[in-house]
Amino acid sequence: MKYSFCSIFSYIFILLFSFSCALTSSSTRENFLRCFSQNSSNTSTIFEIVYTPNDPSYFSRLNFSIQNPRFSSPFTPKPQVIITPFHVSHVQVAVYCSRKHKMHLIVRSGGHDYEGLSYTSEIPFVILDLNNLRSINIDVERSTACVESGATLGEVYYNIAKKSGNLGFPAGICPTVGVGGHFSGGGYGAMLRKYGLAADNIIDAKIVNVDGRILDRKSMGEDLFWAIRGGGGASFGVVISWKIKLVPVPSTVTVFNVQRILAQDGTQLVHRWQEVAHKFHENLFVRLILQAISLDGGKKTIQVTFNSMFLGDVDSLLMLMQKSFPELGLVKEDCTQMSWIESTLFFNGFPRGQSLEVLLDRATETRSFKAKSDFVKEPIPVEGLEGIWERLYKEVGKGMLIVTPYGGKMDEISESNIPFPHRKGNIYQIQYLIFWDAKENVTESQKHISWIRRLYSYMTPYVSKSPREAYLNYRDLDIGTNNNKGKRSVAEASIWGKKYFKNNFDKLVLVKTMVDPTNFFKNQQSISPCVSRSKKSGHY
Ligand code: FDA
Repeated sequence: MKYSFCSIFSYIFILLFSFSCALTSSSTRENFLRCFSQNSSNTSTIFEIVYTPNDPSYFSRLNFSIQNPRFSSPFTPKPQVIITPFHVSHVQVAVYCSRKHKMHLIVRSGGHDYEGLSYTSEIPFVILDLNNLRSINIDVERSTACVESGATLGEVYYNIAKKSGNLGFPAGICPTVGVGGHFSGGGYGAMLRKYGLAADNIIDAKIVNVDGRILDRKSMGEDLFWAIRGGGGASFGVVISWKIKLVPVPSTVTVFNVQRILAQDGTQLVHRWQEVAHKFHENLFVRLILQAISLDGGKKTIQVTFNSMFLGDVDSLLMLMQKSFPELGLVKEDCTQMSWIESTLFFNGFPRGQSLEVLLDRATETRSFKAKSDFVKEPIPVEGLEGIWERLYKEVGKGMLIVTPYGGKMDEISESNIPFPHRKGNIYQIQYLIFWDAKENVTESQKHISWIRRLYSYMTPYVSKSPREAYLNYRDLDIGTNNNKGKRSVAEASIWGKKYFKNNFDKLVLVKTMVDPTNFFKNQQSISPCVSRSKKSGHY
């Protein structure tokens, strides 16, 4: 084989360049580690909280909470250091030393970010993993709780239920989701029509800011406190803990899962659901799970699951359903009465009688996935639904839509109350999902991703427009990033920013400019400051 002078020269250049990069990054890392150890007050614990790739437990630490194996392949960039603070002072030192030694710091609470932004990055980075900061204190008398960001939703629910059978919290359905990302991105579950989002029910927070100072609501000021309740914590600092307002729940709630296929009027029922579900009594939450299944004999159909919780007893539920949605034909035998805490197990598919301790389990089986979101303002016509069915048939058992009704409390809260703007006027939200085995090769994975992108494109006429709204906690880098083609474009950031935040995006930029003008806290979809963009803000 012959090599041209040019190709040999390029090869040598690349080798030298990679070598010098490796040297730079390893010396930066050593400086960072020295700084961290010199500035940490309790040096005896340092060995327990710092992990570098040389440590035997580095990979188990890294992979421990990764929810999307799409971002844990050998080709995914890995952190130079993982820090798992035991104390808030470790967070302060990590911020100080990362700034000093120009290390990119990213924060991980529960590791559920859909695009892996809490555990991977395109530039060399340190993960600050808050897993050890997970205390939960419930004050039943005042109906409040103080929750550290590293706790999971399951732990929050479990601890509330241990103290009271008549208090709950309106956050997400999956128990392994972390409080830090979930609360700071909005966070909703089966009580959103009654009480709004998790972020609507936060009354105070503690954050470590870019200067390493610990601020509470009073000292951070109302603008920053506004921003971290739905604007995403990653742009503004490290949120250590939250004070939340607990909400009343009745001693008995009623749940049901009713399934219909197309031969059982599935399409008509979905069509009717679109007209009524956002107008139901706010105690009633009926969401849809739509997927293609194969029947005996190989024929395909669409399975519609009406997945529901009612804050009350079965007789009141049946009366309401008879009045508001008789077409479903709900009967007593479809329903189960239980406590609110048991309903959190029901939504996760656990059998009746399952011990509540399962809510404390962080280990889950994971599959690679890609998701996207939409908001709908008018019912989709039957032909439109049939087009969705056709597309679901192409990914039987892998593709699905989870459709969440709005209305109730969501209509009462103004669009600018917190950064999450998707309120009155939305009748429901769609989450599109496609799952596949992590072992599938890149070509297969790309096929699944293309499928969901085509479905999203098909949905354009039926969903919100100008902007086409999206939910931050269902992170989707397809809608834009800060570093597209290596350049950061303000115009582009405002495109994805408006999708997530509508007009609140401009205020988020102002808050960011005020609290982090040099853009220390950043990722591929973080808010950038509106000044000093060119020089100080680094790679994104
Ligand atoms: P993770 O640790 O990955 O963080 C997400 C983002 O927040 C990252 O950018 C990270 O840097 C930042 N961040 C995390 N902690 C921070 C902190 N303390 N300070 C500052 N920034 C911080 N959503 C929903 O509303 N309802 C639901 O029912 C569900 N269900 C659900 C199930 C499953 C299986 C998954 C994978 C996800 C969901 N979600 C959801 C979406 C979930 O709300 C979203 O992914 C959250 O951001 C996850 O928060 P984690 O702390 O787990 O993520």
